[in-house]
Amino acid sequence: MKAVILCAGEGTRMRPLTYTSAKHLIPIANKPVILYSLETIAAAGIREIGIVVSPHREEEFQLTLGDGARWGLKLSYILQHQPKGLAHAVSCAQEFVGHEDFLVYLGDNLLENGVTALVSEFQRERPDASILLVRVEDPRSFGVAQLQDGQIVRVIEKPKDPPSNLAIVGVYLFNAKIFEAIREIKPSWRDELEITDAIQRLIEKGYRVVPHLVQGWWKDVGKPEDMLHANRLLLERIETRLEGELDERSHVKGRVQVAAGARIVNSELRGPLVIGANAVIEDSFIGPFTAIGPRVQIKASEIEYSIVMEGTAISGVGRVDHSLIGRNVSLGKRERRPEALSFVLADNSHVQLI
Ligand code: G1P
Repeated sequence: MKAVILCAGEGTRMRPLTYTSAKHLIPIANKPVILYSLETIAAAGIREIGIVVSPHREEEFQLTLGDGARWGLKLSYILQHQPKGLAHAVSCAQEFVGHEDFLVYLGDNLLENGVTALVSEFQRERPDASILLVRVEDPRSFGVAQLQDGQIVRVIEKPKDPPSNLAIVGVYLFNAKIFEAIREIKPSWRDELEITDAIQRLIEKGYRVVPHLVQGWWKDVGKPEDMLHANRLLLERIETRLEGELDERSHVKGRVQVAAGARIVNSELRGPLVIGANAVIEDSFIGPFTAIGPRVQIKASEIEYSIVMEGTAISGVGRVDHSLIGRNVSLGKRERRPEALSFVLADNSHVQLI
């Protein structure tokens, strides 16, 4: 069995971060989002993975992940030249997949308990497709499945009036019949070939599509608050590992990871949190559910429930909470109140001042 990870989306709801980085390469708990899916797929015993990317992002993915040998994987990069929807992205992978069964994983989905149970059930029972479902309060922004006697009778994308509260998780198992179904569907109202419509086509053609309910949490990280929530969920599982230097005036409470080369000076670390290699934390408080990236410098500040990415410097800003701060940002305070404020802010930045 092979796997295909779909990463060609533009991540518009994550701008401005996605102007300079693919959403799937943004770090959560100091690891790019896509690494969690690679680990999950590898744990299910799949080694050959095709990553569908848009042409202008290919280099960034290649530089970050290479050929996958580091994780014992064989990665290929597949280009989706136009953003024509998830079903179109899957059809771009047809040559890579050949006649094998395959797993499709949306690169912005995170699953607490992985896909191993789903994959072995598929291999045992050999349906034509298997889809992961989860009960949610409001399924209107997802694909939704309708079941009857434990079988899927209908799937529908983002319904205004959902037939159930079973949302379709972005992980699917298919055989080659899905390519035939994709050729038979038309673009949706958002002008995309929807994978949900292709699955509905399989059902109409009488093929066997089976449901599998998710155990544990599932998170689809489309927006900044999803990233912060996923960061929290992933930090909940870390173990303490102190490899960096902590001086005698610093205190650690809870589960905390400080990577090699990091220095903690006169500061309080209250886990769960992670601090990346060669970061420097001075006269500061780092609170729960925070990921501080490599080479970040934090001075005289309090950071909580936030992600601060590589190379950023924050100094004297007081308390920062619920924030997603990109790479090489400089955030500081002036000694005296300036006559005028001056900024360099990317499109769609979000700043609040008093
Ligand atoms: C896509 C699918 C949808 C699914 C969701 C899960 O939605 O079309 O059926 O429920 O992923 O993450 P999109 O993220 O394209 O809005």
